[in-house]
Amino acid sequence: MANFMLIIAMNIIFAFFVVLAHEPSPLQDFCVADFNSTVMVNGFACLDPKQVTADHFLFRGLNIPGNTSNPLGSFVNRPTVFEIPGLNTLGISTVRVDYAPGGVVPPHRHPRASEILTVLEGTVFVGFVTSDPENRLVSKTLDKGDVFVIPFGLIHFQQNVGQGNAVTMAFLSSQNPGVIAIANTVFESKPEIDDRVLAKAFRVDKSFVHQLQAPHH
Ligand SMILES: *[C@@H]1O[C@H](CO)[C@@H](O)[C@H](O)[C@H]1NC(C)=O
Ligand SMILES: *[C@@H]1O[C@H](CO)[C@@H](O)[C@H](O)[C@H]1NC(C)=O
Repeated sequence: MANFMLIIAMNIIFAFFVVLAHEPSPLQDFCVADFNSTVMVNGFACLDPKQVTADHFLFRGLNIPGNTSNPLGSFVNRPTVFEIPGLNTLGISTVRVDYAPGGVVPPHRHPRASEILTVLEGTVFVGFVTSDPENRLVSKTLDKGDVFVIPFGLIHFQQNVGQGNAVTMAFLSSQNPGVIAIANTVFESKPEIDDRVLAKAFRVDKSFVHQLQAPHH
């Protein structure tokens, strides 16, 4: 009996997470985000449709190359529901990435989205890694016009492996996909994760951990 109750409880918990893990289907034409509303919902409350204008669905400037003069050699322009309130509840958004030669988007994951990425310019090496225990790298070198899919939540990366600059556009299955940059979360958390934890976890000595945490030392 106790086991039976446990199974029921776990099913309820599981169903709860499934429900929260995906944005709901629209029940009306649109639900433009009302950032002023104090109502707490999964996403944002709807602006009065009578106040909605075309500008709520508009974002300009994704044709403009980003500045890649930075240590990663890449620039991410990622308008989400915060920049396009009309995306609220719709479960989509877009991202442009510019890459200098060798430029990289370091390993990261989107906690709330799958991604479909296409190369507009250049040659880009892209890969994702399957979850434990397999941890298989699934990767491809993409040329202009090639499209690659990054499944929901998996760790992935991109690098410009061509001679010139590269540009990719991607679409994500969330109005607010989120980004978990692996190195930032593990080595640059605030406060830092104890170096004894990281040294043991990565089987390196503490001085190497401190090197990786260098921006804060
Ligand atoms: C929030 O309210 C202020 C003041 O009424 C208004 O100026 C602003 O446009 C509102 N913002 C949004 C996103 O609705
Ligand atoms: C690009 O960023 C670098 C580093 O911040 C800066 O020095 C440079 O002026 C920027 N270039 C443009 C065109 O904004």
